[in-house]
Amino acid sequence: MTETHFVTGGAGFIGSNLVDRLLDCGRKVVVYDNFSTGRKVFLKRALSNPNFLLWEDDLLDLDAVTRTMSTAPIDMVWHLAANADVRFGLDHPRKDLEQNTIVTHNVLEAMRANNIQKIAFSSTGSVYGEPSLHPTPEDAPFPIQTSLYGASKLACEALIQAYCEGFGFVGYIFRFVSALGERYTHGHVFDFCRKLLDNPDELHILGDGRQRKSYMYVHDCIDAMLLAVEKCYNKASVFNLGVDGYVEVNDSMRVITERMGVRPKLTYAGGERGWVGDSPFIWLDVARIRSLGWKPNVSILDGVIKTLDWLLENKWVFANDCHE
Ligand SMILES: NC(=O)c1ccc[n+]([C@@H]2O[C@H](COP(=O)([O-])OP(=O)(O)OC[C@H]3O[C@@H](n4cnc5c(N)ncnc54)[C@H](O)[C@@H]3O)[C@@H](O)[C@H]2O)c1
Repeated sequence: MTETHFVTGGAGFIGSNLVDRLLDCGRKVVVYDNFSTGRKVFLKRALSNPNFLLWEDDLLDLDAVTRTMSTAPIDMVWHLAANADVRFGLDHPRKDLEQNTIVTHNVLEAMRANNIQKIAFSSTGSVYGEPSLHPTPEDAPFPIQTSLYGASKLACEALIQAYCEGFGFVGYIFRFVSALGERYTHGHVFDFCRKLLDNPDELHILGDGRQRKSYMYVHDCIDAMLLAVEKCYNKASVFNLGVDGYVEVNDSMRVITERMGVRPKLTYAGGERGWVGDSPFIWLDVARIRSLGWKPNVSILDGVIKTLDWLLENKWVFANDCHE
């Protein structure tokens, strides 16, 4: 029988790419999204597929999500909805708690009420704070949390693990580095591209540009998640997702300016971090997911170029009020 997958945040960057892949694999897909950052246009292809259903509602409304999950027999939940923006956490200290931790609790409760027991969750490499071990393995000791985003995601992971222990759920926790690719709407490539379209003669860079970062292409990320769900049956599996190396922000900046054909005057905010909670060095050990047979197909800088090319072909994403 055809499996039905419920995707929270399915109108977002990663979620909408996942939705298209699940539909291509012959799954039925139900998306639940409040369109706070998601875009309807990202679901254009899905909306023409008879196996697709869209619910526009908020996960903070437990009754609504519980009711929605009861409208079709659901085989598994992909919980991707979140406040995915790490940088502005301190401007609204309740947002990460609400949009990440409480929302995740609501998703788990709605699943429990509907007897759905399989969940895949998009966590983040930010849970490691500023680790002392690089590349950082899944069992690295957690140092101090450095962002409200990371702290809220770690609380989500803990809730999922406790539901696995207590209610027999099967959980997949994916801690990934920043993603790149088509439908990208936030992150450094977006910021640099927008600034350079506004003014090609100047570029202001947060931090000193020497931050070392790992980025992964969104379809490599989706390949890894689908493989883990297919191959692992543990109670609660945790996987780092990333690539084998890292680049400096300055390397990425050089690729972007070259591709855009601009030579801006560079200014730096200075300091090792772009903002409070920005880790100066992110590089995750991906041996665990690789042991299942996965490998990334797109290098970091090729991912930067693919992202930039998509942004330049879709400049409408830069309009603040565009939630088409
Ligand atoms: N993009 C990255 O680089 C990255 C890196 C690590 C982890 N993640 C995680 O991956 C997931 C997807 O990230 P993304 O980049 O696609 O983000 P995104 O902002 O593009 O997508 C998030 C989606 O969730 C929806 N949403 C948010 N709050 C909701 C709510 N209360 N009710 C219903 N829908 C809601 C939004 O409308 C949006 O469609 C997030 O959980 C994020 O924390 C992303």
